[in-house]
Amino acid sequence: MKVTDSFLCELRKRNDLAATVSTYMPTEPSGSGYICRCPFHKGIDLSFHIFSDTQTYHCFECGASGDVISFISSIEKCGCFEAVRLLAERVELDPPNEESDDKTALKRARMLEMNLEAARYYRDVLHSDMGKRGMDYLLGRQLTLGSIRKYGLGYAPGGWHDLHHHLKNKGFTETEMAEAALIVHKGSSVYDKFRERVMFPIIDIRGCVIGFGGRTLEKTAPAKYINTDETLVFHKRENLFSLNFAEKSADKRFILCEGYMDVITMNQAGFDGAVATLGTAVTPQQAKLVKEHAKSVVISYDSDEAGQKAASRAIKLFSDIGVEAKVLTIPGAKDPDEYIKKFGSVRFGELLNGLPTATEYVLSRLLTKGNMSDVVKYLAGLTDSEREKQMPTVNVREPDITANSETTVAEPNDDAVEKPVSELSNDEILRMIEKVRKKRGKT
Ligand code: UTP
Ligand code: MN
Repeated sequence: MKVTDSFLCELRKRNDLAATVSTYMPTEPSGSGYICRCPFHKGIDLSFHIFSDTQTYHCFECGASGDVISFISSIEKCGCFEAVRLLAERVELDPPNEESDDKTALKRARMLEMNLEAARYYRDVLHSDMGKRGMDYLLGRQLTLGSIRKYGLGYAPGGWHDLHHHLKNKGFTETEMAEAALIVHKGSSVYDKFRERVMFPIIDIRGCVIGFGGRTLEKTAPAKYINTDETLVFHKRENLFSLNFAEKSADKRFILCEGYMDVITMNQAGFDGAVATLGTAVTPQQAKLVKEHAKSVVISYDSDEAGQKAASRAIKLFSDIGVEAKVLTIPGAKDPDEYIKKFGSVRFGELLNGLPTATEYVLSRLLTKGNMSDVVKYLAGLTDSEREKQMPTVNVREPDITANSETTVAEPNDDAVEKPVSELSNDEILRMIEKVRKKRGKT
């Protein structure tokens, strides 16, 4: 039997928690569940509560909590794989075999469960007194409570063991926490990876919490954002932040951003096709995800040179796989988040609707840089009809009949220093394009 999500689901369904606990401790009905003495600490109070609707337990004295699998693994002092085997045998489900595949599948399922628990913890902290700093920060950035809830944002407190202790009480081991990159091992001690940061859960298309981004509240900190390291379930190159919402959007034009905050602000402004890469340049796998779920994409990066360079690379990636891509340049603001806050969502929508095509964008960037051989090389790569369409942008000057263009136009090689674009006539440019094409044809 393979350990799959549906196997674990069936296993939990058949091993009712209250019935399982009652084979170890006498239980009494209470409310919609049961209570008993806690098997995990010495005490006589009926502090151990079993919640039938959620199939979870919690001891209000020692804090032990979890589900039927963590109950068996704690009481039988065995790993969770062994606990699953025991539970399977009890209900005559085919027990999982020892194959490493199954172990990995179980590990993955446990890790997702733990990530979800961590996300709930961070969220609860954010909405409590302990998370006031984080909440003030997010509200200060003009996020609404609705957006904060929609994205399940949270706050990682400043202690070194807050999440660590919480997860331990929920039945997760230190090894599991470290494998999920939620705690860090240093020598013989461990501590929480995320501290004093507002937390952005990263949720995949199935709705599973696969990792986190955490933003510092300090103006100067060595790392503004830190993200979950690669784990069994988190591969930053293969996921997009907010794809779980964008995928359901009626707008089949995705907006690809750089940052978590850009995406949330866009959503708040009504643009729910926004997604972001997870701290890397867009990868081929991410471009494929966009292709699977959208018809076209608007690349909406920061307005600085680094952002625009990255946008040009992204255009190429999308055009290679046949996705129509346009680029949004953001006048008067450093990124979409800032733009929307400064000028509002109506103007942002207008920007989106008046975008140049990818060709126009690349060409205008090349023209601004003023290196004629790059312009010519780019034009030479276009189809004839596309090139004809672009020529008026390149040069609107009438051909200069007095110039001896045969001799004054430089060869379009890499280090050619030519006349500025404005001094070339269209005829000259076309001749240069021909030369490039001939050269390319030969090689
Ligand atoms: P930016 O520096 O543009 O951040 O990084 P931002 O989204 O505008 O953040 P705010 O508005 O100041 O909060 C863009 C993205 O790059 C990644 C994050 O995913 C971030 O959202 N990044 C940035 C990191 O992973 N680490 C960093 O230190 C900085
Ligand atoms: Mn920003």
